[in-house]
Amino acid sequence: MTDSGMEAHRLAGTLGGELSGIDLSVEQNEEQIAAIRAAFRDYLVLVFRGQDMTPARQVAFTRLFGPVEPHPLASRKGIEGHPEVLVFENKRGTAGARNDFWHSDISFSATPPAASVLHGRTITPGYGDTMFCNMYQAYDELSSGMRKLLDGLTAMHTSAPLAERNRSNVSDGLPIADVPPPVEHPVVRTHPETGRRALYVNPYFTSHFKGMTVEESRPLLEHLHQRATRPENVYRHHWRQGDLLMWDNRCAMHYAVYDYDDTKPRLMHRTTAGGDAPR
Ligand code: OGA
Ligand code: MN
Repeated sequence: MTDSGMEAHRLAGTLGGELSGIDLSVEQNEEQIAAIRAAFRDYLVLVFRGQDMTPARQVAFTRLFGPVEPHPLASRKGIEGHPEVLVFENKRGTAGARNDFWHSDISFSATPPAASVLHGRTITPGYGDTMFCNMYQAYDELSSGMRKLLDGLTAMHTSAPLAERNRSNVSDGLPIADVPPPVEHPVVRTHPETGRRALYVNPYFTSHFKGMTVEESRPLLEHLHQRATRPENVYRHHWRQGDLLMWDNRCAMHYAVYDYDDTKPRLMHRTTAGGDAPR
């Protein structure tokens, strides 16, 4: 227990922490905000249970971590009056667009979001877990030779797979008309708050290393993704209604387990806090 009245406990060896004693439906005081920020730096993924909050409150909370904006490609619909609150909805007749791939949110942007906030409003218990992995750890565990090689590399990130996903079948994903040109990011980025270095590639948006072909890049990218997502480096979250999760896209990837169909309702509200250009 800290002065803020909050308690933190670890959820997995590699990342993930649950904070209790906090009600996000009301404004946090300075002490609580400082405690949440510190826990976020330590755990990379935070879990707040039993939260009942309005979209406006979710936006206000998210804004503590960066500017809140709608999806740059309008990949999902926003809620009425709050285009920056994205709706992820799986229901009869309209499947939720799948996120069953490891990724860091919107890494195809020149300035990807620092943090994402996801509120579980309707959950079918047991289904639709979300997994997270620690990209500091993924980098730290590499050999010094491999770290040195990667430190000098840049990779290309593209939204093309998202456009492709949203084109196919009936889902809550909206068609993306214009796929912007790919962007380049360093393969290893330094977290602006912790100063720690993290691997910053992902199997969904990262197409290849700059200056190499897709074929040449694939074996090394696959190796890195495999190392990053090994079970010891993963926390798997079992959702309960009212859970609010936040994760740091600068040092974690996530994967939405797709083990349900349209008979298992799932409704989430997602907001993002903007971040800096990776460097
Ligand atoms: C996201 C996402 C995972 C989930 O919100 O960015 O990938 O479990 N969601 O819905
Ligand atoms: Mn995501």
